[in-house]
Order: sequence, then C-alpha cells, then structure tokens
Amino acid sequence: MIRKLANDALFALPCDKQYNFFNGGEKQSMKHQLVLFALICLLGNLPITYATDTNAHYATQTYTHELPKGAVPLAQSKECASCHPTIYNEWKESSHARSSALVNPAHGAVHQAFLKAMKEKGKKGNYHCANCHAPMADNIQELMTGAAELDSNNWTHTEGTGCTFCHRIDSIGEKETFNHYKLNMDGTLYSSNPAKKDLPHATEQSSLFTKGEVCMGCHSHKLNKKKVPICMMKDVSQGNCLECHMPEVAGPSTVGIDGKTHRSHTMPGGHDIEMLKKAVTLDAEIISKDEEQHLVVTVKNIIKHTFPSTNPMRMALVKVVAKDKEGKKIWKKFTKSPLEDRQALFFKAFKAGDKIGVPSWLADGIAFDTRLKAGETREITYVLNDPEIKQVDVMLIYRLFPGKAIKAFGIPENGINEKDYLVAQKSLTL
Ligand code: HEC
Ligand code: HEC
Ligand code: HEC
Ligand code: HEC
Ligand code: HEC
Repeated sequence: MIRKLANDALFALPCDKQYNFFNGGEKQSMKHQLVLFALICLLGNLPITYATDTNAHYATQTYTHELPKGAVPLAQSKECASCHPTIYNEWKESSHARSSALVNPAHGAVHQAFLKAMKEKGKKGNYHCANCHAPMADNIQELMTGAAELDSNNWTHTEGTGCTFCHRIDSIGEKETFNHYKLNMDGTLYSSNPAKKDLPHATEQSSLFTKGEVCMGCHSHKLNKKKVPICMMKDVSQGNCLECHMPEVAGPSTVGIDGKTHRSHTMPGGHDIEMLKKAVTLDAEIISKDEEQHLVVTVKNIIKHTFPSTNPMRMALVKVVAKDKEGKKIWKKFTKSPLEDRQALFFKAFKAGDKIGVPSWLADGIAFDTRLKAGETREITYVLNDPEIKQVDVMLIYRLFPGKAIKAFGIPENGINEKDYLVAQKSLTL
C-alpha cells in the first residue's frame, strides 16, 4: 500500500507492518505519536487522517516534493561513489541518471514540442515533467509552474533521479493527475534492512523498499488535464518491481564489506533487448484448414504488467514475410504502416474528437489500446493463399518511438530511438 500525506485526507494503516512515520525534524515528538499509533491499532484498521504530519512546511506543498526549509540538502550522486562504486556505475548508466530534459534529448524534444503547443494556444509553458524527470531540482515548484526554466549549470537540474532522492523517500502522496513524494528532513537513508550502527551515514528501515512501492510516486500513473490516462501502471501491474528490475547481481554493495550480491541499479526496461526478450513468448505454426494453409502466430505476455509498458509512445508489432523457394520476398504483411493491421499491433493511441494519433496533451480519450495485458495471449491468423510461398519469417519487433512521433516531435535519430528491436523470431518452411 501507499502511504498518504495529511492533506490527502483519509487512509487506513495495517498495524502489522513497520513504517517510517517520522522525518528527522519531527523525531522529538515520536513517543507521543507512537502512543497514538498504538491506540489506532487497538481500534482496528479504522481510516484515520495522517495526524502525525504537522510539519507546517508541507501545508503549502500542493503537488510536488520540494524539500522544506531546514531540511538537509540532497547530495549529488557522485558523493556516494567512493564507498558504493558498483552501484554508482550501474546508476550512471541507467535511464534515471539521464531523465532530465537537459540530458535525455528524446525527452527534451517532446518537452520542446509541448512548449511550442502551449505557446500556440497562448498559454504559458512549464516543465511539470520535473516532478518525475528532474525531481531533485532545487526550484522544482518554479519549474513546474513555468516561473523558472531549466539551467544546465545547476546540477540539481541535470542529476535526474539520484541516490538521495530515492533513498530519502519517506512517503508517497497520491494525487489524481500524478503522485508526488515526501522526503525526510534529516537525510537518513532508507532501505528494507534494519538500521545499522556506526556507518558513515544514518540508515533506517522502510517497508516502501521491500517490493518497490517506492517506485510508485513516479511510475504509478499520469493523467492529462482532461483526465485521460497517459501512463498507467498502478491498475495494470502486480508483483514486485524489484524482482525483475533490480535483480540481485554479483559483487558487494559497499567497499570493505563482505557481501556476495547487491541489487542492480541499472533498472533496465525498453532500452534493453535482453529485458524485452523476457517480456513475451512468440510461437508460430502452419495449420491446414478448408484446403487452405493458415499461419497462426501466438504472442504471450509473461510479465506482470502490460507489454509494451507504460510510456504511450512504446510500440510492438508482429511482422510476417513470406518467401518463395529461391528465398525471394513475395509477400509482406503490411505495405504502408503497421496501423493497417491492428491485431498484430501492440500500441495505445490517443484521440481528440475523431482525430486518431494526437499527442498526449491534446487527447480527449483513447482511440484504441491493443497492448498485451499481464498474462494475456493473442492469436493472430493469416491465410497463406499463394502456392509459391515456401517459407515464412515471423518477427516480433519493438520500437521505443513510432516513426511518426520521431518526425512530429523532432526526436533525434541516434541508432536507439528509431531502431527496430528484434525481440523474437520464428521461421517456418511449407
Ligand atoms: C564513507 C563511505 C560511505 C559513503 C560515502 C556512503 N556510504 Fe552508504 N554505506 C556505507 C556503509 C559502510 C554501509 C553499510 C553496508 C553494509 O553493512 O552492508 C552503507 C549502507 C548504505 C545503505 C543501506 C544498505 C543496506 O544494506 O540496507 C544505503 C541505502 C546507502 N548506504 C546509501 C548511500 C548513499 C545514497 C550515499 C551517498 C549520499 C552513501 N551511501 C554514501 C558507506 C558509505
Ligand atoms: C530509483 C530509486 C533508486 C535510486 C536512484 C537509487 N537506489 Fe539504491 N536502492 C533502491 C532500492 C529500491 C533498493 C533495494 C532496497 C532494499 O532491498 O532495501 C536499493 C538498494 C540500495 C543499497 C542496498 C544494498 C543492495 O543490496 O543493493 C545501497 C547501498 C544503495 N541502494 C545505494 C544507492 C546509491 C549509492 C545510489 C546512487 C548511485 C542509489 N542507491 C540509487 C532504490 C534506488
Ligand atoms: C523520481 C521519479 C522516479 C522514481 C522514484 C523511479 N523512477 Fe523509474 N523512471 C523515471 C523516469 C522519469 C524514467 C524515464 C527517464 C527517461 O528515459 O528520460 C524512468 C525510467 C525507468 C525505467 C525504464 C528504463 C528504460 O529503459 O527506458 C525503468 C525500468 C524504471 N524506471 C524502473 C523504476 C523502478 C523499479 C523504480 C523503483 C525502485 C523507479 N523506476 C523509481 C522516474 C522515476
Ligand atoms: C515479472 C517481471 C516484471 C515485474 C514484476 C515488473 N516488470 Fe516492469 N518490465 C519487465 C520487462 C520484461 C519489461 C520490458 C518489456 C516492456 O517494456 O513491457 C518491463 C518494462 C518496464 C518499464 C519500461 C518501459 C519503457 O518504456 O522502457 C517500466 C517503467 C517498468 N517495467 C516498471 C515496472 C514497475 C514500476 C513495476 C512494479 C510495479 C514493474 N515494472 C514490475 C518485467 C517486469
Ligand atoms: C508522473 C511522472 C512523469 C511525468 C510528470 C512525466 N513523465 Fe515522462 N516518463 C515517466 C516515466 C516513469 C518514464 C519511463 C518510461 C515508461 O514509464 O514507460 C517516462 C519516459 C518519458 C519519455 C521516454 C524517454 C526515452 O528516452 O525513452 C519521454 C519522451 C517523456 N517521458 C516525456 C515527458 C514529457 C515531455 C513530460 C512533461 C510534459 C513528462 N514526460 C512528464 C514519468 C513521467
């Protein structure tokens, strides 16, 4: 479950778990709060307000996780590198270290397109994307409202999601359009392990870190102004994010500490072909039916959330090529665009009125969503009606961005963004 902030009204607390209620600035009144908590537990799981959260700084915090005045500032991730070098190097290579619009040109391009669209409408642009893409920004409120712009000389604008952001997450505020976080005051670093003594820094145990609830401030959902779901993980996902995205890998987490493994911080997703291969299975067979040859392709999602997930630009498709006995291509499934054959397309498209394929910020609804849900199997049948066909190649292809989006948003082609990733392939002879 996700813990809520006081101004988010009611929530229920199971009493059998340990929670980090208190941020550093509030520790002096801990005893009093524990009594209150015990009383509530005796009364059962009644919905209660977050009565312990009395920090005045948060009263003005409406939608973002700005650090309150007096809090220990966030540290730059390179400060952790001397003692946690393996984890630092993994993080450095991750999407989290490149998530700012100043660092990830694909995100930067889509943000520029958003600014342009706002300007054309006579509206003030902003970088509300900062909530998730530049969460450590020291003026995040101003960035999100449009009162300030990104500054490449400010490390808090280029850092992305750094070590101290995640490890200081104290609770998650659930919001309708997207969630936000509350960070602790005193800089204590949380993990799922009990606090250890005499470390160079304070640590504390937090249940948010056991299964990946901690990810759900940014990865839960995002709706646009018209309440259309742009990204949705919370309703479509089961299971422990860390199991698949932060597996235990060889090597100690810390210099000078014995330890065979640590949790990998590379957090692979759509950019990683090995990860993509773990998401789906592809099967193909030829069946004779009514004196016709049918090619039956079966694609099964074997992970715990949609494939592709969750960014609306991600797409996958089944491509079939038929060849004659010389190996010459005589038949290709689609000629113009993958949109021609929606059963073989795994994609979510937005609409505005009767226009299909609009940017997320213009959407008034979803035109279609043909992505595979967790555990879903899709069977696609083709009639092979040409007797010359002697071989068929079936390919499952993944794209980070559709060609149309690359053009429309000016996403740079860099050998990654526009690439066809071959996730699986089957060849059959007739
Ligand atoms: C001077 C060395 C040093 C520096 C610098 C350092 N750490 Fe640590 N850290 C340690 C040691 C030692 C441990 C205990 C490791 C153990 O016992 O497995 C630890 C443990 C941790 C843990 C808890 C791990 C667990 O087993 O639950 C986290 C989280 C953590 N550090 C994060 C950070 C972050 C983030 C930074 C940078 C802001 C940082 N550390 C900087 C030495 C350091
Ligand atoms: C996106 C969020 C996120 C970021 C960014 C992040 N961590 Fe972690 N880290 C986690 C989670 C989740 C765990 C698993 C926690 C657990 O089991 O307690 C973890 C585990 C750890 C541990 C425990 C040891 C182990 O077995 O892995 C250390 C130490 C640590 N992180 C240090 C760092 C450092 C240093 C950085 C920056 C270079 C960093 N983390 C960045 C989320 C994050
Ligand atoms: C502060 C917000 C934030 C938190 C917390 C966070 N993420 Fe992310 N994550 C992002 C953003 C933003 C991106 C996309 C960055 C980009 O490509 O520009 C991303 C990207 C990813 C990706 C995709 C990588 C790819 O190849 O495109 C995975 C997987 C992922 N995160 C998993 C996790 C997991 C697991 C956790 C929790 C341990 C977590 N994230 C916590 C914001 C966050
Ligand atoms: C059973 C394994 C598994 C679990 C559990 C799982 N994922 Fe994934 N996830 C994958 C695989 C495999 C991919 C790559 C295929 C895809 O993009 O759908 C992926 C992709 C992603 C992406 C990348 C999307 C992109 O556009 O690059 C994000 C973000 C993500 N997962 C977040 C999460 C979060 C958050 C959780 C926990 C709520 C979670 N995942 C749970 C296996 C898993
Ligand atoms: C609620 C959190 C959140 C907000 C707000 C947000 N994003 Fe993201 N964004 C993510 C996450 C998480 C990912 C990782 C991919 C995924 O989930 O599939 C991502 C990925 C992306 C990517 C893909 C990057 C790549 O290289 O693959 C683009 C582009 C992007 N976002 C653009 C934007 C823009 C532009 C804005 C603001 C107008 C924005 N996002 C606001 C969470 C957010």
